[in-house]
Amino acid sequence: MTVHVSPDRNEPAVADPIVVRDEAMRHLSAREVLLDAAFGADRCAKTSERLREGRLPADRLALVAEAGEHLVGTVRLWNVTLGPGRPALLLGPLAVDGAIRSSGIGGLLMREATSRARDEGHRAIILVGDEPYYRRFGFAVAKMERLWMPGPVERSRFLGLELVPGALDGARGLVSPTGGEVPRWQGLELAGAWRRAA
Ligand SMILES: CC(C)(COP(=O)(O)OP(=O)(O)OC[C@H]1O[C@@H](n2cnc3c(N)ncnc32)[C@H](O)[C@@H]1OP(=O)(O)O)[C@@H](O)C(=O)NCCC(=O)NCCS
Repeated sequence: MTVHVSPDRNEPAVADPIVVRDEAMRHLSAREVLLDAAFGADRCAKTSERLREGRLPADRLALVAEAGEHLVGTVRLWNVTLGPGRPALLLGPLAVDGAIRSSGIGGLLMREATSRARDEGHRAIILVGDEPYYRRFGFAVAKMERLWMPGPVERSRFLGLELVPGALDGARGLVSPTGGEVPRWQGLELAGAWRRAA
């Protein structure tokens, strides 16, 4: 795919192919900027953030979309358990640069993320988001009614996707984080990346 991206948002657009790849340390600053622009500075107050703070994303499931050198999209998935003994993934945040939305980049990231999750042997993905967007990837409110998050959430936005048929049957209980914790040195690195982006 080719889209038009402005190198510094003030220059004329240039054509660059979109590449989806694993997120790396070099993407962190630009990712923070993109997320602030997409969700606002209070994004960390979201209930989903309670399941992400202090944790590492699931292995191989932090992805970015790049156009040339420019980060234009991001998605991460996180290890959680849906009540006791039911491992799953939490998806989010998903965001695409506002200058080039509706070019298919969100879809690319979603399809790569769900396909990798399936390949890695995960059974289900949950998220809190706009059902009119996520239903095209198979997410639905069905089977989510007996699960709850560690904070307020709108039921109509609390969605699940079975990667293995029946994986959400009987799901019940509190969604809790199970991913690895961010090592202290990496926490400092992340804080530095954030400050550089601010
Ligand atoms: C949601 C988002 C990631 C989609 O990225 P994208 O690259 O524009 O997505 P795609 O190009 O694959 O799909 C675009 C389609 O999704 C639709 N769409 C985008 N956001 C939507 C939403 N919140 N609800 C319903 N439809 C939505 C567009 O209207 C477009 O529809 P069309 O194909 O009929 O024209 C992007 O709009 C974004 O970053 N939004 C702000 C952050 C956000 O809200 N993220 C998560 C959603 S809860």
